[in-house]
Amino acid sequence: MKEIKLKVDGVIMKVNIDDNEILLDVLRNKLGIRSVKAACWRGECGLCTVLLNGIPVKSCMMLAIEADGQEIITAQGLYSDERARKLMDSFVKHGAMQCGFCTPAFILTSHYILNKYPDADDEKINEGLKSLICRCGTYFQIKEAIKEAKKYYDHFSKS
Ligand code: FES
Ligand code: FES
Repeated sequence: MKEIKLKVDGVIMKVNIDDNEILLDVLRNKLGIRSVKAACWRGECGLCTVLLNGIPVKSCMMLAIEADGQEIITAQGLYSDERARKLMDSFVKHGAMQCGFCTPAFILTSHYILNKYPDADDEKINEGLKSLICRCGTYFQIKEAIKEAKKYYDHFSKS
């Protein structure tokens, strides 16, 4: 066992891990962050996505030890960002979720896309979302929600 330090959603956390433990299991099982979902555990569904230093990563494909000292944002952590709250509102308005299992990963990834490309066109949005699977098939609604939320990322300063 080794102690690592993570900054998760703005809070510094220390946790004991095994060398071969994946970040997904540490976040869900040791830190109790259940908004981080999983369906495949092999890098295919994208549901375990979190932002690592602002960049989307699949937490099932990363050892927790590799995240030592890094900053992680999960869906809960986005509530402090006014633009992200508007993005979430847009998801609700457009019905961009059915079961909602994929929603945290899509929100985090959409936030990343709009933060980096506030004027993202269809191609950029499609490219940004390509590593995520929604088994309910709400892709059209998700893209509509993102397009509507673009104006908020234009309006507010970047974070
Ligand atoms: S659980 Fe990580 S990509 Fe599917
Ligand atoms: S809303 Fe059900 S998996 Fe996407």
